[in-house]
Amino acid sequence: MVNIARLRADTPGCEGQIFLDSAGSSLPPQIVVETAVAHLRREAEIGGYRAANERLDDLQAVKTAIGQLLNADASGVALSDSASRSWSDFFYSVPLTAGDRILISGADYASNAIAALQRARQTGAVVETIPSDSSGQLDLDALDSMVDERVKLVSLVHVPTNGGLVNPVAEAARIARRAGALVLLDACQSAGQLPLDVAELGVDALSATGRKWLRGARGTGFLYVRPELAATMEPGRLDLHSAQWTGPAEYTLAPDAGRFEFWECDVAGRLGLGAAVRYLLDAGPADIYAAIAERAEYLRKTLQEIPRVTVRDRGTQHAGIVSFTVDGLTPLEVRDRLAADAITVTVSHRSSTLLDMTARDLDSVVRASPHSFVTFEDLDHFADAVTALP
Ligand SMILES: Cc1ncc(COP(=O)(O)O)c(C=O)c1O
Repeated sequence: MVNIARLRADTPGCEGQIFLDSAGSSLPPQIVVETAVAHLRREAEIGGYRAANERLDDLQAVKTAIGQLLNADASGVALSDSASRSWSDFFYSVPLTAGDRILISGADYASNAIAALQRARQTGAVVETIPSDSSGQLDLDALDSMVDERVKLVSLVHVPTNGGLVNPVAEAARIARRAGALVLLDACQSAGQLPLDVAELGVDALSATGRKWLRGARGTGFLYVRPELAATMEPGRLDLHSAQWTGPAEYTLAPDAGRFEFWECDVAGRLGLGAAVRYLLDAGPADIYAAIAERAEYLRKTLQEIPRVTVRDRGTQHAGIVSFTVDGLTPLEVRDRLAADAITVTVSHRSSTLLDMTARDLDSVVRASPHSFVTFEDLDHFADAVTALP
C-alpha cells in the first residue's frame, strides 16, 4: 500500500486543489523540481557545458533507472524531448517500400497516425487500421487475420489517450512478431501507471513521455529499442552524438540506442526525469500502479451513479484515465467550470484519436486521471462538484 501522507508531503502542488490530470501533465514530486532547478542554477554559475560535465554519471543513471523500470539494459534507452519525438525517431528509421503495410491501432494517437500516413505517401506503403473488438480494445482475431509478410510494422497503443482502456499488447505483439513485423509500442499513457517489462511485452521499441504518469519535467521523453535491433538501424537524422565523423566521407553510428539521440538537450529536464523515475522505483512501482487503478475504478463507479453523467471508458481492463460526458454541457464547459472550483481535468478531442472517436460518434470527452497522491475525499468532492454542475 502507498504511504499517501508521504506522497502528498512530497507533492506540495496537490494541496488546495483536486488534481486529476496526470494523463495530461502531472504534478511532479518536489525532488524533481529541486533537481531540475538546481541544475539550471548551476548552469547560471559555471555555464552549461561545465555544469553538464559535472553530471555525466547522473545523466547515464537516468537511462539506467529507465532501464530498470522497463527490465531493459540502459544501452537500449535513448532520451528525447517527447513521446512523439521518440515514436517518430524509430518509425521514420524503419525501411519501407511500395506495397509494404503499416498496421496502426484503432485508438492510435493522431501524431502516430499522421506520421504513418506521411510515410505511406512518401514510400507507397499502405496504412491499415486494426479494428477494435466489441469491448473497444484491439481485436486480436482481426489482427491475426491481417498480418502477412508485407506487414513491416505494427503500431500498438497501450493506453489510448481518450479513455481508460488497456490494450492486450503482449498478445498483439506475439501475433505481429510471428508474421515477422516490427512492434512499436506507444507507452505514453502507460509508463508510470502500468508494469512495462519489454521482455514480457515482446516489443521491438517503445516510446514514452516524462511529464504524465512518471511525473517528470515537461519536454522529456524516451525511446527503448531492443539493443540487437538498434545496432542494425540507421536513424533518419544524425548528428555528432548519434554518429562520429571518422573520415572525409565516413561516419560511424553510435553502437547502441544512443544513435537515436542528438547532442543538444535539456540537461535539467533530463536530470529531473531521472529523479522522477527513481522516486517511482523507491516508492514501489507495484504499489503506485495499484493506487492509481484503485482511484480510477472508484471514480468510474462514483461517476456512473450521477444521473447526467455517461462514463465513456471501454475495454475489459481499465487504467487510470476516466473519460465521461455530462448531459447539457460540452466537455470544455465542464472543464472550465470545474477549474473555477480548483479542480483540474482536461478534454480529449476527436482529432487526437480520430478513428475511435468518430466510430463512437463523440466530439470530445472530459478526462479525469487521478495519480496515487489523490485522496478518496478528493474524489468524493470531485463527484459532488460534477453533480452540482449547472
Ligand atoms: C497515447 C498517447 N500517445 C502519444 C502522445 C504524445 O505524447 P507527447 O505529447 O509527449 O509527444 C500522447 C499525449 O497525450 C498520448 O496520450
